[in-house]
Amino acid sequence: MSASFDRRGFLRAAGAASLVWGAVPILGQKSDKKYRVALIGSGWWGMNLLREALGSGRARCVALCDVDQDKLDFGKDDVEGESGDKPEVFQDYREMLEKVKPEICIIASPDHWHALQTIACVKAGAHVLVEKPTGHTINESRVMVREAMASGVVVQVGLHRRIGPHHVEAMDFLKSGAVGKVGEVRCFAHGKGGKEEPKPNAAVPKGMDWEMWCGPAPMRPFNAKLHPGGWRNFLDYANGTMGDWGVHWLDQVLWWSGQKGPKSVFCTGGRSIFGEPVLNEKEQTTDAPDHQLAVFEFEGFTASWEHRKFADNGSEKHKIGAYFYGEKGILHIGWRDGWSFYPAGKNGEVGAHGDHQLQEPDGHNIALLWGNLIDAIEGRAEPVAGIEAGHRASCLPMLGMLSDKLGRSVAWDAEKETVVGDEEAVGLMSRGYRGGWEYPV
Ligand SMILES: NC(=O)c1ccc[n+]([C@@H]2O[C@H](COP(=O)([O-])OP(=O)(O)OC[C@H]3O[C@@H](n4cnc5c(N)ncnc54)[C@H](O)[C@@H]3O)[C@@H](O)[C@H]2O)c1
Repeated sequence: MSASFDRRGFLRAAGAASLVWGAVPILGQKSDKKYRVALIGSGWWGMNLLREALGSGRARCVALCDVDQDKLDFGKDDVEGESGDKPEVFQDYREMLEKVKPEICIIASPDHWHALQTIACVKAGAHVLVEKPTGHTINESRVMVREAMASGVVVQVGLHRRIGPHHVEAMDFLKSGAVGKVGEVRCFAHGKGGKEEPKPNAAVPKGMDWEMWCGPAPMRPFNAKLHPGGWRNFLDYANGTMGDWGVHWLDQVLWWSGQKGPKSVFCTGGRSIFGEPVLNEKEQTTDAPDHQLAVFEFEGFTASWEHRKFADNGSEKHKIGAYFYGEKGILHIGWRDGWSFYPAGKNGEVGAHGDHQLQEPDGHNIALLWGNLIDAIEGRAEPVAGIEAGHRASCLPMLGMLSDKLGRSVAWDAEKETVVGDEEAVGLMSRGYRGGWEYPV
């Protein structure tokens, strides 16, 4: 897909948008315009994003949309208390887009909704900050790129590590040649855990539109393991830890190498410790793997993703991040542990280090990501995690999951963005949608 940032298309669309919804600042100039912003998915992370947007002084919250009335009530109080804005509330994003016509939509719903909602927002002419991963399956993510490019709006993906200061520092260090030629990159996240007990299914909470929560994905009985937040470990709605955390770290591989994707992928994993998934009328467990190993063959190096949600006991120095193994030493890029370089032949000595510069309490760099989105809308910058980069990063865990489901390696053509020579695997690049929703083609 040739989907590099189309500045002329963007200019045309910016002009068009100004005719419909009020003036956009003259490109390249500093402005203090407050954008009319709507949040779709006012859960934990969505409210984090919105608070940073409001805190920048460049956003006015005009709408909140969530299928859970409790989240809407909480979000509305929060926004009113923090900014004085009085957002309208909606349970259906289509109605919100129609009535409110926001200039920017922040999308922080569960992953199975990202594609349909992003496509609807860009078609409605809104710029978008959509959370990672872009899609649940590869083809819907490809359509997100195409529609974003066609509409000329700016779409930023929530890969804030692309602008996080300690990541930028580490990437500069790596690209300076200080690590030497890199032959392997190992990305990982480890934690503690044991056998998973099922939880009883429950009545859908009052004020919650469960049909609309499940939307295009299969419908499960309501269960507190799913909402809020727990859906990431259910494969109908997300791609487990590899889709959730892996996308951030595998993205560092693409950022560093500049490659569009791997040549092949093999992934395996399972639930050796959590146990077989349970789903019946009475109760359920999650069904995502408790550990997974994915190997990506790139031009000139090999990358891997590994997560293990058990057995962490502090004996491994870093619990999360990416190790770049080079001729001159090992670079680790982490989270709250910043970045560290261990020179070759120095027996684990730290040769260079940078502390993290994250915003707490949740350890992110959203203010910078948001600021970059505004700069991109106003023509002063390219989006650091634009839709194409976000899509390519999201393809890595999606490909890993595809290989794991098939139980064999798959060859990938990163230019054509398709699996090669395996019709069954090509079939898994899409999935059937439920409930009258149409899979984007
Ligand atoms: N970039 C990061 O570092 C980072 C960190 C955390 C979460 N995230 C992402 O943020 C997103 C949200 O995660 P979360 O932990 O806040 O989940 P959450 O479950 O707490 O919040 C999601 C909200 O979306 C709502 N929702 C579901 N279907 C909807 C629909 N059709 N329309 C509108 N709202 C709907 C849910 O009711 C819920 O309130 C995910 O995509 C996740 O991957 C990113």
